[in-house]
Amino acid sequence: MQHFLTIADLSPDEVWALLDKARELKTELREKGENKPLLKGKTLGMVFQKPSLRTRVSFDMAMIQLGGQALYLSPNEIQLGKRESTADVARVLSRYVDAIMARVFAHRDVEELAAYSRVPVINGLSDFNHPCQGMADLLTIYEHYDRLTGLKLAYVGDGNNVATSLLFGATKTGMHIAVASPPGYEPKPAVVHLARNFAAESGSEVLITNDPQQAVANADVIYTDVWTSMGQEAETEQRLKIFPPYQVNSALVAQAKPEVIVMHCLPAHRGQEITDEVADGPHSVLFDQAENRMHAQKAILVSLLAG
Ligand code: CP
Ligand code: NVA
Repeated sequence: MQHFLTIADLSPDEVWALLDKARELKTELREKGENKPLLKGKTLGMVFQKPSLRTRVSFDMAMIQLGGQALYLSPNEIQLGKRESTADVARVLSRYVDAIMARVFAHRDVEELAAYSRVPVINGLSDFNHPCQGMADLLTIYEHYDRLTGLKLAYVGDGNNVATSLLFGATKTGMHIAVASPPGYEPKPAVVHLARNFAAESGSEVLITNDPQQAVANADVIYTDVWTSMGQEAETEQRLKIFPPYQVNSALVAQAKPEVIVMHCLPAHRGQEITDEVADGPHSVLFDQAENRMHAQKAILVSLLAG
């Protein structure tokens, strides 16, 4: 593994190895109060074109707890592709740091960073996918059920970057996945095609539907995300009219398995895609999931930098 741009690039064995490493590092931290300094002396440059709480802080803390350091570069500082070309940013930044994490608008920007960087590049969210989130999500489900293969994940909402990473992550690990989106907001056909190929290898099933009830039937996990992603703000009003039937509320949760867990990558727009009652209710694992960003990313960083 040279870069970490999408879960689609990983073999199932690589996905499982990252999950097991994340669990090991999380246990080590809990039991010993600290991790071994596997990344002593290593540095991570973090390039952001968009706001962030989880990605920024969890990467920073992951580096610190592994003995390294992270450097936050705000949207105004780098101005990817505006102040200088994305290729030049990659060429220069990779002379200073040991790895780059980038949160970008267009996925081709993170691909271009990877193409011109001398050091590993990690995708911290693009319009195409959110692979670090996807790994943290798999970790959360894996810890909760102590398995993934054969479980059913129902994603209800926009067929966006987060849905894409879940489609790849689920089908790499043998989890069934059902995605319910409004007509016109389904995951991209190329994404579904790839996921179905992975599913054929792992023995899982992919269902794409417009019916939230159908998606959540018999689900072990219900997942949702914002209706309007960063960069799509001009569509907010239109989306607010279309998405309400896809809200994850108590009535919908009641149609899944009784012990279903509810997930959201956060930030949440409470009262839109998820109700307070569900986000703060007994099925919610939202904050374990947020914590797991740090543990999952430690595994990614170690595999790229300490291998
Ligand atoms: N889930 C997630 O990526 O959160 P941030 O946008 O706060 O980083
Ligand atoms: N789909 C959301 C995820 C935020 C973490 C977005 O791209 O804005």
